[in-house]
Amino acid sequence: MAALCAFKKHLVNILFLCYSVFDLIYVQFKGEFKLEKLVIEGKTRLSGDVTINGAKNAAVAIIPATLLIDGICTLDNVPNISDVKISCDILEDLGAKITWNSEHCFTIDTRNIHSTSAPIDKTSKFRASYYLLGALLSRFKHAEVGSPGGCKLGARPIDQHIKGFELLGAKVKVAQGKITASSKHLQGTSIYLDTVSVGATINIMLAAVLADGTTTIENVAKEPHIVDVANFLNTMGADIHGAGTDTIKINGVRKLKSEGTYSVVPDQIETGTFMLAAVASQGDVTIHNCIPEHMASLSSKIVEMGANIEEFDDSIRVWCDKRPSKVNIKTLPYPGFPTDLQPQVGVVLSIADGTSIINESIWESRFQYTGELNKMGANINAQGKTAIFEGVEKLSGAPVYATDLRAGAALIIAGVIAEGTTELYNIEHIDRGYESIEEKFRKLGANIKRVNE
Ligand code: EPZ
Repeated sequence: MAALCAFKKHLVNILFLCYSVFDLIYVQFKGEFKLEKLVIEGKTRLSGDVTINGAKNAAVAIIPATLLIDGICTLDNVPNISDVKISCDILEDLGAKITWNSEHCFTIDTRNIHSTSAPIDKTSKFRASYYLLGALLSRFKHAEVGSPGGCKLGARPIDQHIKGFELLGAKVKVAQGKITASSKHLQGTSIYLDTVSVGATINIMLAAVLADGTTTIENVAKEPHIVDVANFLNTMGADIHGAGTDTIKINGVRKLKSEGTYSVVPDQIETGTFMLAAVASQGDVTIHNCIPEHMASLSSKIVEMGANIEEFDDSIRVWCDKRPSKVNIKTLPYPGFPTDLQPQVGVVLSIADGTSIINESIWESRFQYTGELNKMGANINAQGKTAIFEGVEKLSGAPVYATDLRAGAALIIAGVIAEGTTELYNIEHIDRGYESIEEKFRKLGANIKRVNE
């Protein structure tokens, strides 16, 4: 009897301990760990108007670029997404003062930066944290930045960033989950990138803005967000030429202006996501606040699929009144077909008439979404960097997982055009890069809601 009582007492203690540990973990993470999903009832033909926000990949570079300024600047058309929030959060930790003027506009005061160190708990939440290296190195000649995170698309080396910093005269060390770069003096030089890299182009550009003399970077990336970062820096007094071509020349300046205002370029990838949603759903969508010229490689493929495009100054109408035809796609650096639209175009090809092939030339693992689409009835065979899409007549709703940001956007489109109900999990990936995505789809007629489990 005594033994039974002792056992019961132990059991109660163990249960209480388990409860306390669970409660502690819950309290610790409840702010960050939301179990949300999107529930989408297909099948919908999208129609109407949608407005595009500022570009994620420009904003997440321009925000750290403000560290080059010893002053105050105002950024407008900033997308309200979690990658922007965390970028701002890190800058505040370093000593910046950010005042939000409206949902998409804030003023940032970088006069009192007191730290050049950004720890891994925040830097690992997104890829663009690596821009803190170039920006801090440029202004303070020292940066200690935790390893970057971001979508898992295969190996994501930063050897070209490091090569650029070293050629400018910095010492760079990678150890214990952080990258440290420091220099007494940065000297302009000639740098040839072995790989066309968006991140390395921007990071080296940031590091060179306040260096002595002229830096020339060859074989650079030419994406619209690179031109936008250069435009921002030039607005603030930098002397950068050639952004958008293969060679960027940066004449170092002593100091940037202490005041300025800049509006972020519209998001090329969000624009393309809605253009492809219009084609996939055989709908009719007009996309506002975009730059049609940035969409040339996609627009030509959309026409090849048999859909229609009408371009205006800052809007594009896309409509499709028959099943899209097969096309082959190869992703390439800009002005080629963007890898960040590959999953979304994959959804269109999964229901296209005929067999299409996608060749992914940028990332090793960007076909993870095809497994999710196959759960919805698609017939896609992905091997390495090539995937063959045997177009099926229709997709059917299923529970699916956003394997990364663009995969998540693609699966929303798939849910919209599928018959039945799709439950989409891991949607925090989508919130990193798309503002109010379900509201925008709902406005176009989609039956989509966010459910908190
Ligand atoms: C940027 O990533 C974007 N991210 C990515 O968008 C986009 O897919 C990619 O550019 C290509 O367009 C941001 O702008 C924050 P890269 P980044 O350096 O800079 C190799 C999204 O969904 N490489 O242009 O990391 C690399 O392995 C995201 O918004 C090196 O070998 O890409 C890849 O094969 C996902 N060494 C290729 O170059 C380096 O030092 C292009 O990478 C750097 C890159």
